[in-house]
Amino acid sequence: MNQPVKVSEKVYWIGVNDRETALFENLWPLDKGVAYNSYLINDEKVALIDTVKINKMDTYFEKIQEILGENKEVDYLIVNHMEPDHSGAIKEAMHYFPNIKIVGNQKTLEMLEAFYGITDNFYLVKDGDVLDLGEHKLRFYLTPMVHWPETMMSYDETDKILFSMDAFGGFGSLDGGVFDDEVNLEFYEDEIRRYFSNIVGKFSMMVQNALKKLQGLDISIVAPTHGPVWRENPQHIISLYDKWSRYEAEEGVVIVYGSMYGNTERMADFIARKLSEKGITNIRLYDASKTHVSYIISDMWRFKGVILGSCAYNSGLFPSMQTVINKIENSALKNRVLGIFGNYSWSGGGVVNLEAFADKMKWERVGESVEAKSSPKAEDFKKCVNIAEEMVKKLKA
Ligand SMILES: Cc1cc2nc3c(=O)[nH]c(=O)nc-3n(C[C@H](O)[C@H](O)[C@H](O)COP(=O)(O)O)c2cc1C
Ligand SMILES: [Fe+2]
Ligand SMILES: [Fe+2]
Repeated sequence: MNQPVKVSEKVYWIGVNDRETALFENLWPLDKGVAYNSYLINDEKVALIDTVKINKMDTYFEKIQEILGENKEVDYLIVNHMEPDHSGAIKEAMHYFPNIKIVGNQKTLEMLEAFYGITDNFYLVKDGDVLDLGEHKLRFYLTPMVHWPETMMSYDETDKILFSMDAFGGFGSLDGGVFDDEVNLEFYEDEIRRYFSNIVGKFSMMVQNALKKLQGLDISIVAPTHGPVWRENPQHIISLYDKWSRYEAEEGVVIVYGSMYGNTERMADFIARKLSEKGITNIRLYDASKTHVSYIISDMWRFKGVILGSCAYNSGLFPSMQTVINKIENSALKNRVLGIFGNYSWSGGGVVNLEAFADKMKWERVGESVEAKSSPKAEDFKKCVNIAEEMVKKLKA
């Protein structure tokens, strides 16, 4: 979208869509694009809240120009987050508006110098400080490690807008609709959870700290740096974040397998059917080689049950399953229930490594691990039934 969108009387959304970047952070598939949201408060003093990625700068400055006209300048650039998808246009903004002050905390300052060699025109703020723009007053809340050291949020006390940077945001470009009441939320919630689980989830404890700090704030609008702006139901996205960062999960099972010739896959399908027979309706079955791990971890963040299967591969896990295991370990997902299965033909390597993973994660286990030799036999299927039954018992308990 090339036009600015009004968030309130003097506050504008001036974000841009990116549908050309294939991988966010060169890792996470952007099949549905992504938006870099930035905001402009056109008060007596003019403040920009965050910028956009460098590849989208032209549209961005056109929008600012459209709001301000020829005679007004931007006075402040609030830098809530230094990751380059938002800090990319800082240098350019300083070029356009030579008197601009860059507003950030001590950690922001260090990063500004490290990334862009910027040391001048800095306006240092501490936790709880207020910046007066005229009618609008911005209060700053330092929320370190959500998900970088310098991350902070800015709260407009006048219109009760929380500029929350990456928190509450997600993948998916804004295709016409900008606000929660203008879009299909099911679509965005999936992409917000995928963003959360892959990028922010590892810092769930810091998210909880941030939520505690924001408690009691009267928030009418949540304005993140990605995804929709929440004005109809801001509490909805806040409560989703709260739930995810407490590792709370829904009834359902994610089965992921690594298989070359289908023997491990047969066991996965068999277990899935048994789960279904026992009344589980949310079953997600993934071939680790086919579905990007970012989607898999996102579903694991949603559902309580996880069942992992791997054939043996050069004495180890099947490589695509290794990727899945690494991702779970790295994001430190907690409180899940785990079942294990696999396949081998001589000395194994799959199941033994899944067992080692289970020990590290300290997840609750269901059933006995089953490792079939080449094609699964009756006794293997019996153990698969047991995994499914025990899983259902735990989920329904
Ligand atoms: C490249 C390669 C490496 C393998 N490495 C091992 C191994 O180290 N230990 C083992 O017991 N089986 C190993 N296998 C055998 C498979 O794990 C076994 O045939 C299994 O049944 C394959 O399951 P799938 O049909 O789900 O792919 C290997 C197979 C291949 C093709
Ligand atoms: Fe970020
Ligand atoms: Fe971001």
